[in-house]
Amino acid sequence: MKVLVTGATGFIGSHTVVELQHAGYDVVGIDNFENSTPNVIKQVEAITGKTFICEQADIRDKKSIHAVLQKHGGIQAVIHFAAYKAVGESVAEPLKYYGNNVAGTVNLLNELQEKDITDLVFSSSCTVYGNVSSDMLPVTEETPLMPAFSPYGNTKQICEEVLRDQSQTGKLRVVSLRYFNPIGAHDSARIGELPIGVPNNLVPFITQTAIGIRKQLTVFGNDYATPDGTCIRDYIHVVDLAKAHVAAIAFLQQRKSADSFSVFNIGTGKGNSVLEAIHSFEKVSGQKLNYTIGPRRAGDVEQIYASCSKAENELKWKAERDLDNCMLTAWNWEKKLAEQKQNA
Ligand code: NAD
Ligand code: WQD
Repeated sequence: MKVLVTGATGFIGSHTVVELQHAGYDVVGIDNFENSTPNVIKQVEAITGKTFICEQADIRDKKSIHAVLQKHGGIQAVIHFAAYKAVGESVAEPLKYYGNNVAGTVNLLNELQEKDITDLVFSSSCTVYGNVSSDMLPVTEETPLMPAFSPYGNTKQICEEVLRDQSQTGKLRVVSLRYFNPIGAHDSARIGELPIGVPNNLVPFITQTAIGIRKQLTVFGNDYATPDGTCIRDYIHVVDLAKAHVAAIAFLQQRKSADSFSVFNIGTGKGNSVLEAIHSFEKVSGQKLNYTIGPRRAGDVEQIYASCSKAENELKWKAERDLDNCMLTAWNWEKKLAEQKQNA
């Protein structure tokens, strides 16, 4: 079976291509390489020992998507990762985010419809739940969505609505995966996250501080109503997350559900605090992390973690890796990047 993957050389896309190839799927990737590099193609091939066809194409460009679908016949399903993802940037440049994440998705859907490609897995986010209160934890797929906190979050809510509406026509079957906090890297340290500029996310900031790129990590607040006062998140290893996509493709193929639009939380079901994440990193890396406690970051949710029983029951998927493994693989990846920089 042939699967089209958009954003195929990105952080989650590249790990998913590896797992798809391991599971025996033929993959055609597309990426515009705006937030990744073509070198990822070689790295994926080195991991799987298979050829990875990845075309340079932009989901906002009808012609280039059309050309890819013409060139690679027989595509039966799509996993759609391509999007912008920086929350802060989306506040400063909302049109950039609506243009790529929403208009790009609509553009892609038009092209898929023309080719009668009916199965799609969408990259959604726990950000769609907004600022959930602690008495609503763990969040289930039935937890009501709150107004999005950022234009980025809003693009995910809008895309889910677009996909739900289109699925009502009978021309599209969708699995929307709501990722919690994806972290970690491949065991081979050949692929991982490539943050551009100063990372906003916790784990790249931890590893960049430990390697010496950043002077100090600031913990954003320790006066929350949590056991150690710092925020709690559901950190999910990117390889576990990649496997959830393989399970979602199988789910669509088997058409087990009568629903043409299904959503699943993809996390571990366990919350960890910022301090727990730091201590896990220190334990597995043997590095003492230079960090300080600072003020709260505007817009941060106090705590959020998933109920993943729906994914467990229906997708037959469950996260297998723990926080220590996430931190170890993220650290190995950071060390590999430093090595490459030194040799360049
Ligand atoms: P990423 O930036 O590493 O990967 C996205 C890839 O898409 C990049 O390679 C980029 O070059 C490509 N791309 C962007 N716009 C494109 C376009 N118009 N045409 C073609 N390619 C384009 O991001 P990621 O972390 O792998 O995220 C993948 C998806 O998962 C995104 O939709 C993101 O919103 C979603 N998501 C990510 C997280 C996270 O924390 N990483 C959490 C929840 C959801
Ligand atoms: C995690 C925790 C911070 C950096 C974001 C997006 C969300 C989703 C996942 C895409 C928080 C704390 C962080 C630092 C810190 N992405 N922190 N010091 O905010 O949960 O979610 O990524 O869909 O939409 O908003 O992730 O990694 O930024 O923060 O103390 O330097 O680490 O306050 O508690 P977040 P994060």
